[in-house]
Amino acid sequence: MLMSTLAVTGGTPVRATPFPNWPIHDQREIDAVVEAITSSRWGGNYLEETGFKTDEFAARFAAYHDARHGIPAMNGTVTMEVALRAAGIGPGDEVIVPPISWIATASAPLSLDAVPVFADVDPQTGSLDPAAVEAAVTDRSRAVIPVHLGGRPVDLDGILEVARRHNLIVIEDAAHAHGSQWRGRGIGSWGDFGSFSFQITKVMTAGEGGMLTTNDTRYAELCAALVNCGRIPRGSSLTESPWGWNYRLPELQGALLLAQFSRIEELTALRADNAAHLDRCLRELDGPAQPLPPDPRITRQAYYYFSLRYEAERCGGLSRKRFIEAVQAEGIPLGVGNPVIYKNLLFRPTAATSAVVAGLVGRGLDLSKVHCPNAERIAEVTGMGLSQHVLLGSHADVEDVVAAIDKVTKHADQLAVSA
Ligand SMILES: Cc1ncc(COP(=O)(O)O)c(C=O)c1O
Repeated sequence: MLMSTLAVTGGTPVRATPFPNWPIHDQREIDAVVEAITSSRWGGNYLEETGFKTDEFAARFAAYHDARHGIPAMNGTVTMEVALRAAGIGPGDEVIVPPISWIATASAPLSLDAVPVFADVDPQTGSLDPAAVEAAVTDRSRAVIPVHLGGRPVDLDGILEVARRHNLIVIEDAAHAHGSQWRGRGIGSWGDFGSFSFQITKVMTAGEGGMLTTNDTRYAELCAALVNCGRIPRGSSLTESPWGWNYRLPELQGALLLAQFSRIEELTALRADNAAHLDRCLRELDGPAQPLPPDPRITRQAYYYFSLRYEAERCGGLSRKRFIEAVQAEGIPLGVGNPVIYKNLLFRPTAATSAVVAGLVGRGLDLSKVHCPNAERIAEVTGMGLSQHVLLGSHADVEDVVAAIDKVTKHADQLAVSA
């Protein structure tokens, strides 16, 4: 079979070997969990005992991001809910969010009966656009949740400037961005809060888990109480308990995360090196899969995924769907992101679950009327990406990505252009 025959039409694929597996573990993770189990401290860091790995992890993770405090929690959804609650956001308050993100960015305000207001993204980067935030501000706006999409920091200078002028609380959704830096300083330390996820696909994981970061001691104390049934933290200046829930992170997870944290520097550098090589090769190729524009203010990037923009006119008008199918058949796990949040079936009212979302129509959130053209174009037409594990191998591995894209581009005539 000729190498020029596309694998999707029966040819030999560019690559037959899989990319590195995720998650990664070695003896460090095993020892950490065994030690946590044999210590008998499987949880309970709200009691008088000290020496918990979860607390050590929280302090080190926060410091690594240049934040003063770290508050561990069960996942990166409740972290945002807790941050909003600590900031006093409540029913009817508006929280400005981007439409390109996981649904949690918008469902966190909904859990407080606050209204997520979708503001459009930058057409090149897919990140929340400060000008769109400005345009979305009303006299009910109380907060904004910019997302560091795929690990690429959002324009924090622009977002913070708008937030300052309109007195908005800023919660950085950093679920993808462990270790990323903006102008030399850790993300999660720029806004009022940073919110991280350790769910299984994230660049460090315990299967599930979350962390809030903040530089504000009172917020930190409030958040620590809110995730711990309202208990006032030891040594805190709080005088009364807030109405809290049990969102505590168990010690086995904390111990596992401390082990994962020991490799963050090495893995972030490895992904960044492979991403830089892939970026260079794709720019040289100058084909239909274009990397995002560089931004010198991004001084370190955690690649949760490597984002690409599909330009169909550089591939004979081939649809993104068909292009991706053809590249996947060559052995490359190229994919698309989630639909825009307001069209995601998990977010839309159904007969069974309409109460919360449908109830918001009365407050001005009619999802059928929301339209963010830049976000929709990226989600439905141009956006593509490669997951972080593709960047955990060698330069030769990412050269296979480029070879597959090149092959599909050169032989696109073997595919039905309209499909
Ligand atoms: C951007 C973003 N924010 C928040 C979350 C929620 O995190 P978790 O799954 O830990 O609840 C995710 C999770 O995938 C996410 O991608």
